[in-house]
Amino acid sequence: PVVFILNGPNLNLLGLREPAVYGSSTLADVEALARATGDRLGLVVECRQSNHEGDLVDWIQEARTRAQGIVLNAGALTHTSVAIHDAIRGVGVPTIEVHISNVHARESFRHHSYISPVAAGVIVGLGLDGYDLALQALARRIKRPDP
Ligand code: DQA
Repeated sequence: PVVFILNGPNLNLLGLREPAVYGSSTLADVEALARATGDRLGLVVECRQSNHEGDLVDWIQEARTRAQGIVLNAGALTHTSVAIHDAIRGVGVPTIEVHISNVHARESFRHHSYISPVAAGVIVGLGLDGYDLALQALARRIKRPDP
């Protein structure tokens, strides 16, 4: 099975941007770890990042025919994007929403997510482990699709 790991705006700056909030590992580190976790779980992990909303919409649509699951950290688009909400709903591929930081402990504009209502699950505030945990959850779900 193939799983997409999609990261949105500013996550290319991981390790450089607010390390007190997001940690000091780079996106390349996170993606390498995720691919290694995928190998252990029998998943082929494809990682992509974009600062552009439309790229994320295109990749979510691509997942409809190419992937069995999506791990999505949409960054700030989480709090604004009806287009991403509609894409996830439209393709029906199980999507796990990940946030590195605990968005609920931060500014109130981060408390609402357009993605959560269409996500299979949400992982928030567990740092970079969130990506690994999301892959584990998807691997189980793909093997045993019932809740
Ligand atoms: C984030 C939280 C968002 O509010 C923020 O805009 C990000 C990163 C996180 O991973 O904690 O870019 O999604």
